[in-house]
Amino acid sequence: MADARPFHWEYHPEPPRPEAFRIEGGRPLRGTVHVSGAKNAALKLLAAATLTGERCRFENMPEIEDVRVMAETLTDLGVVVDHPGDGVYEVASGDVDWLFVPLEAAAKMRASFILLGPLLSRFGRVIISNPGGDRIGRRPVNLHVDAMRALGAEIQYRNGYYFAQAPGRLRGGEVTFPQVTVMGTENAMLAATLAEGHTVIRPAAQEPEIDDLIAFLRKMGAEVERTAPDTIEVHGRKRLRGADHAAMPDRIETGTFLVAGAVTGGRLTLENAACEQVGALVEIFGRVGVPVACGTTSIELDATGLRTGDLRACDIETAPYPGLATDIQPPTCVLLTQASGTSRVHEAIFEDRIEWLSELRKLGARIDIEDAHHASIHGPARLHGAEASIGDLRAGASLILAALAADGASLIHGAHHVHRGYENIDRKFQQLGASITRSAEPA
Ligand code: EPZ
Repeated sequence: MADARPFHWEYHPEPPRPEAFRIEGGRPLRGTVHVSGAKNAALKLLAAATLTGERCRFENMPEIEDVRVMAETLTDLGVVVDHPGDGVYEVASGDVDWLFVPLEAAAKMRASFILLGPLLSRFGRVIISNPGGDRIGRRPVNLHVDAMRALGAEIQYRNGYYFAQAPGRLRGGEVTFPQVTVMGTENAMLAATLAEGHTVIRPAAQEPEIDDLIAFLRKMGAEVERTAPDTIEVHGRKRLRGADHAAMPDRIETGTFLVAGAVTGGRLTLENAACEQVGALVEIFGRVGVPVACGTTSIELDATGLRTGDLRACDIETAPYPGLATDIQPPTCVLLTQASGTSRVHEAIFEDRIEWLSELRKLGARIDIEDAHHASIHGPARLHGAEASIGDLRAGASLILAALAADGASLIHGAHHVHRGYENIDRKFQQLGASITRSAEPA
């Protein structure tokens, strides 16, 4: 029978080709940049659509690799995913062929684990790869598994996979985390929307993407509410309906471009951006001495009058929202290389988010790495072009910032990491006057 899926969209990605950015630094960025939809909202919205058999339509979705991987993962389950235009995805999970999320999906993207809650709650069973296993890095998912068990799931771990089932139906209950976890909160919340009874999640993470997800779930008819800053309560329903939603702006991208304007001595307007979503960074800008003007849906930054030595060093520490986002720590470190004095950095969330600073040193930054969570940045340091390699998404974007601020040419390997989470980042910088091109690594 002909494929009955209208506009069925085939996506069979080749592994991303290794690419490099060539950057000629020293040019102040000027102009207006439109902030794209949030990666860390979009991925969860797509997963949440599997809670209903009805069609859901999403707009303002970023055109990035991780969203394409999530769409492909859903397609491989048998979910109908249409991509009728840039930034638009339609999802219909009427039925699924397989309740299996393979290692390949987890290896490409840890966020595939967000499918555990919705698939378990909707279909009663799922086999899903462990994205935090020793085979592909750290980042455990024990808190997610504990949350599912608190809702009545039976989960066994065998050969790198979680075999999860919910005899009958998940039951609402108390989900109490020993520490804040963003996707743990989201997995528990998604599962609870179809569980029988009342669920209380605390401490619930407070990242704005979670409230964006709550807004979508409520459009689907879910009874979910943030009843206190660190508490989310859900009354389970038997079924949810399809709904439309536009992803919120990406606050990590907002922070990244704010730092880009500051370290290049530029003048930028960020559209589709909100200061309150990057409040901790705006506070640091105030301490360091970079002026920003907050509008309702835009932010203005003018660093054209700043001279070397004007910026003041300041200590930073990452924390769950509303603290400084760990994803904004790498760009903030680039800013601190230009501040006079010593800034102490405490990365309190992840143990593998300081080491990238050794790449930043290659561009002339003066940094002492004390341990997996602490470093000291001495400035101002005159950055110069260099060859460096990107290890992960956020560090990659930050090496671009440093190269844009540096005198001379840089070659930054691993550009494909950046395209996992930043939509058209090179084109956006080109439109602001930067000299940046992307090319395939020589074979
Ligand atoms: C989300 O990851 C984001 N990813 C991350 O963004 C972000 O850095 C992180 O939250 C913190 O804000 C997505 O939303 C897709 P956590 P998540 O659970 O939910 C430990 C990016 O670049 N932990 O809040 O996985 C964990 O190791 C990414 O966009 C457990 O021990 O982070 C960490 O130390 C990077 N067991 C801490 O909790 C668990 O079961 C907080 O992690 C889960 C987490």
